[in-house]
Amino acid sequence: MDTVAIILAAGQSTRMRSRLPKVLHPIAGRPMIWYSLQAARQAIGEGRRPILVVGHAADAVRAAVGDQAEYAYQAQQLGTGHAVMQARPLLEGWQGTVLVLYGDMPLLRGETLRSLLQLHETQRSHTPLTMLTVESQDSMGFGRVVRDEAGRVLAVVEEAVATPEQKRITELNCGVYCFESAWLWEHLGRLPLSPKGEYFLTDLVAMAAEEGYAVATWKLADVSEVLGVNNRLHLAQVERVMRRRINERWMLAGVTMTDPETTYIDMDVEIGQDTVIFPNTHLLGTTRIGEECRIGPNSVIRDSTIGNRCTILASVLESALVEDDVDIGPFGHLRKGAHLAQGVHMGNFGEVKNAYLGPGTKMGHFSYIGDAQIGRNVNIGAGTITCNFDGKRKHQTIIEDDVFIGSDSLLVAPVRVGAGAITGAGSVVTHDVPPGAVVYGVPARVRRQREDIPPQDKEEEPPA
Ligand code: UD1
Ligand code: CA
Repeated sequence: MDTVAIILAAGQSTRMRSRLPKVLHPIAGRPMIWYSLQAARQAIGEGRRPILVVGHAADAVRAAVGDQAEYAYQAQQLGTGHAVMQARPLLEGWQGTVLVLYGDMPLLRGETLRSLLQLHETQRSHTPLTMLTVESQDSMGFGRVVRDEAGRVLAVVEEAVATPEQKRITELNCGVYCFESAWLWEHLGRLPLSPKGEYFLTDLVAMAAEEGYAVATWKLADVSEVLGVNNRLHLAQVERVMRRRINERWMLAGVTMTDPETTYIDMDVEIGQDTVIFPNTHLLGTTRIGEECRIGPNSVIRDSTIGNRCTILASVLESALVEDDVDIGPFGHLRKGAHLAQGVHMGNFGEVKNAYLGPGTKMGHFSYIGDAQIGRNVNIGAGTITCNFDGKRKHQTIIEDDVFIGSDSLLVAPVRVGAGAITGAGSVVTHDVPPGAVVYGVPARVRRQREDIPPQDKEEEPPA
């Protein structure tokens, strides 16, 4: 069966009271429209890209969605029927099934659309139209599905024009349909103008019934799937349901969450087995967490990769890379380009930016390491600062293996501290330190040489 999806997203969405187009508001780290596109792709498979009908803020939507969709433009929002009609020129000469859905129902699942399409496939010799409906006591302002005594679908009646009796109908129109293309194009042109001045797609249901077709319906089991977003209250509700789905997926995959209600995980995050996530933890963007980690409480991790068996307590990580067996926090901050090798320990109030800390290096308390390359088994004393910025430019600090940086050392970059060197407490290091040298003072000078590390060439020593 040849199938194409048309996603309606031209409406103005005044009730969001936002400069950002409604369908671009993020839900679990992805713009709302992404979910409709994804569900459509899941249902159709490797077919043609979905057609997005854009209108209000069309340029912003196009720019955000890019080549994930084809576009039809609806200059004036003259109703859902009119919106579908705008896609017709793109499908000239094409024949098949047209799946219609909205860009503001992000909870609708791909499987649901697939079931609808499958039902339509078995019915399409008797009906040009199959629709998704749901039973709900709360009408949510949806159109009602009117049936005759024999249960045949007669029409969809919009809430605004429904009689009191029709208003009591609990079967609702979800706004999701499969149409045979030839029938659709022929009948869209005949839609009457509603009293509201719009062309209602829903009027096609009555047309099909009047022509004697038995309109098929697929009843949705879970009404939350068709929660539409019209204002920020709906946005929060939908986000909550999405969050629950994501958390359930990871718990079933072997991740422990001590309080899923306060665990916030974006759509694209991945988490390894036997990792434990503690409350008020946010795993955002493209974050990947390994196995057997302990994350949180109170950690925010964005676009970062964490190895196995790491502990990250009350810390903030952005675009960082953390290898296995690292522990961070409480109150650590990794910024862009931070790379902590295996077994690094980073205690409270540390900040690392654009820097590599080698295996086994320890940075226990109150330090800033920026624009630095640090070797293995280095001890970074409390209060150490890489003075990487001279007011105009950033400079590199290099600390070789097995160095001991005394508490409260200031390393004025560019500077290199040779392997095994020691800086005394309170040193202000303004010149390179040779391997094995012991320096201290302000500015720091070489005071002696470690006996176990022979001195190197004179040239490499700082001037006296
Ligand atoms: C529509 C259905 C209603 C159904 C409900 C489910 C009609 C007439 N009514 O009502 O039976 O129960 O959906 O949510 O179809 N849009 C455009 N261009 C337009 C108008 C709308 O692109 O000219 C888009 C909107 O951006 C929105 C979607 O279509 O994403 C639905 O439009 P909306 O006006 O909200 O329809 P409902 O009143 O919800
Ligand atoms: Ca709506």
